[in-house]
Amino acid sequence: MHDKHAVSAYDRYVYEAGKVGVIGLGYVGLPLAMACIRSGLQVIGIEIDERKLSLVKDGKSYIQDISDEELTAAVRSGQLAATADYSQLMDVNGIVICVPTPLTEEHTPDVSFITNTCVRLRDHLQPGQLVVVESTTYPGTTRELVQPLLEQGGLTAGVHFHLAYSPERIDPGNHSHKLQDVPKIVSGVSSDCLTRVTELYGRIFRHVVPVSSTDIAEAAKLLENSFRLINISFINEFAKLCDELQLNIWEVIEAASTKPYGFMPFQPGPGIGGHCIPVDPLYLQWSARRSGTESRFIELSHHTNETMPRYIVNRIARLLGPDRTLSGASILLIGIAYKKNIADMRESSALTLIRLLQQEGADVSYYDPYVPSVRIGASVLHSVELTDETLNGAGCVVIHTDHACLPIERIVENAAVLYDARNATRGMKSAGRLERLGGGTHTSRRSRQQVSE
Ligand SMILES: NC(=O)c1ccc[n+]([C@@H]2O[C@H](COP(=O)([O-])OP(=O)(O)OC[C@H]3O[C@@H](n4cnc5c(N)ncnc54)[C@H](O)[C@@H]3O)[C@@H](O)[C@H]2O)c1
Repeated sequence: MHDKHAVSAYDRYVYEAGKVGVIGLGYVGLPLAMACIRSGLQVIGIEIDERKLSLVKDGKSYIQDISDEELTAAVRSGQLAATADYSQLMDVNGIVICVPTPLTEEHTPDVSFITNTCVRLRDHLQPGQLVVVESTTYPGTTRELVQPLLEQGGLTAGVHFHLAYSPERIDPGNHSHKLQDVPKIVSGVSSDCLTRVTELYGRIFRHVVPVSSTDIAEAAKLLENSFRLINISFINEFAKLCDELQLNIWEVIEAASTKPYGFMPFQPGPGIGGHCIPVDPLYLQWSARRSGTESRFIELSHHTNETMPRYIVNRIARLLGPDRTLSGASILLIGIAYKKNIADMRESSALTLIRLLQQEGADVSYYDPYVPSVRIGASVLHSVELTDETLNGAGCVVIHTDHACLPIERIVENAAVLYDARNATRGMKSAGRLERLGGGTHTSRRSRQQVSE
């Protein structure tokens, strides 16, 4: 029987006048939309958060790597139109899904954002359109979850529309690797789908890397991020060991890094944050459990990561000295974003650190030029002004996030007691007390007991 949709599927795909829909204008979606525009494509951005929608419409960027000027120009020229209305996607060629994939309270995959997106999208899906999932997720999601949900709209993937998966590798705040220069893995649920996504992404990205299935592409992303979780957790364990062995881990890493092959340096820190590294490996762990096996590396690394803030609290307690306790001590955190030079607080170890310090009775304040305020339970903390007096007055200053703009020398000069969880003070001497994570300052018996709690 002649299937008019299947025939029109290939005719509709016109690249010359390419129009792309991007669903979810967050840390991934907005930069991707701008990359599409830079490649000459027109973008319909779909966003359900009204605040973000109106900011985009006003040309006000909430993503650091996108300037207001670039956003305003895209909106004014009509290259970017932002809306919550999925029916606007009916005349685009490609639709890219960039919605969140967090964890449930039980630490299992929460794919509800993907499900909701597919349910909203399916009735507007048109023959010939290409749908690309970019959200990070467990192997099998595109095939088992997205495909059947979209097909409930009446069109078949690989026959009437194209379905693909392409993991996002964006690294917010990283100016050395531009989005379009990072090789882009692409995959499709059929060979035609792979061809379509390779063609479209070939316009946006410099290097496109086709792989044989969507499951492989999904798993590749989880491998990349699990690799980072495991290695950073290992270096954090090594940092704790160096404290015990009275070795300076930073010097150890520097020495090991001179090996030209077979070694890749990772840096210790107060805990891994962000929407990706602490979260994605648990998607893989869930997959392992689902298939009746386990992933002990991920479990151990997750545990090591989760316990880093407690370790830092114990080191601060030790640094305050035997005559002082955390109770009533004023602790000033410097930098609370999950990593340097960005404003993202998602899964930041500073959140746990603040909570633990407050539980010990400490009076916690913070300075972060990127994060004006933060909610901790029922209360809101506001970034303080970083004056010499603020630094002088703190019982202990803690460098949590080493933003490039921090006045490190002034911090070292004015803080009587300073704990540096990032080695931001490398090579500097302090007239007061200064300890670095993994710096090799031996723990007392008392703090060893605390660490093992
Ligand atoms: N942030 C990163 O650095 C990064 C890097 C690589 C991959 N990823 C992955 O990309 C995905 C998106 O992450 P993100 O950091 O951009 O998240 P985000 O929260 O910054 O952005 C997602 C956006 O989607 C919107 N949204 C949710 N449901 C929607 C719906 N049904 N329709 C339209 N909009 C909807 C949200 O309002 C939000 O603005 C996740 O799977 C994440 O794991 C993120």
